[in-house]
Amino acid sequence: MLSMRLGPIGIFDSGYGGLTILNEIRKLLPEYDYVYLGDNARAPYGPRSFEVVYKFTRQAVFRLFEEGCPLVILACNTASAKALRSIQQRDLPDWDKGRRVLGVIRPTVEIMDSLSRTKHIGVLGTVGTISSRSYELELEKMFPHIFVTGQACPMWVPLVENNEFDLPGADYFVRKYLDELFKRDSLIDTLVLGCTHYPLLVRKIKKYLPEGVTLFSQGERVAESLKDYLSRHSEMATRIKTDGNTRFLTTESAEKFTEAASIFLSSTVVVEQIVID
Ligand code: DGL
Repeated sequence: MLSMRLGPIGIFDSGYGGLTILNEIRKLLPEYDYVYLGDNARAPYGPRSFEVVYKFTRQAVFRLFEEGCPLVILACNTASAKALRSIQQRDLPDWDKGRRVLGVIRPTVEIMDSLSRTKHIGVLGTVGTISSRSYELELEKMFPHIFVTGQACPMWVPLVENNEFDLPGADYFVRKYLDELFKRDSLIDTLVLGCTHYPLLVRKIKKYLPEGVTLFSQGERVAESLKDYLSRHSEMATRIKTDGNTRFLTTESAEKFTEAASIFLSSTVVVEQIVID
């Protein structure tokens, strides 16, 4: 059993993408303390196997528990798709029954029915997220009448990580995956950005999006869902520190993180390098 002191909310991502989720969460819930962990040294997770994503995510969550987090959000679709269920079912009962780990897929799926008129939804994600079929499986359980088409976009994370997302070269790959998706289902009216890096590509994506299609970014929705969760679980809300501070941890060098994180964050942050294994 790990300690029961007041602690921050842990936000985990394979790299920088989860900062788009953290930003929205902090906007809506500024009173809480947060600790962000980016496993930058081992990112990207997108092309990795189920076993490896589970192992890495499990190590990261355990580390965030050691940092005192009573609640951890997997702000990474690939980790949510490939590791969340195993962590919730296999690891949490052994580690600490009082702590919680939540993902980003369920809150997204929950509002799909209200967003789509045609009930045809597209999901853009990493190879890992799309091949796991997690969105399809969750949607099937909740809204079996919704038709889902997943599209893997393996070149999009590298475009963002290399700061190429707003340059002319990005247009080719943005258009390529959108064309492939809409060729497979032209009735899609709601398109989920099922990867935390993709909000940075929104300007380009909108350029090639068929008319009448709504683009759905997860950040705000995940923040709203967390707020709702905490209002329904006062036993968890009262265990979270409320000094409004955020710490940043990375498995890569702190300098690299600080430099790259400036794409995602408006202010300079203090970053600490850690080892997880
Ligand atoms: N952050 C991950 C996600 O939301 C993508 C980045 C990666 O491949 O590691 O799926």
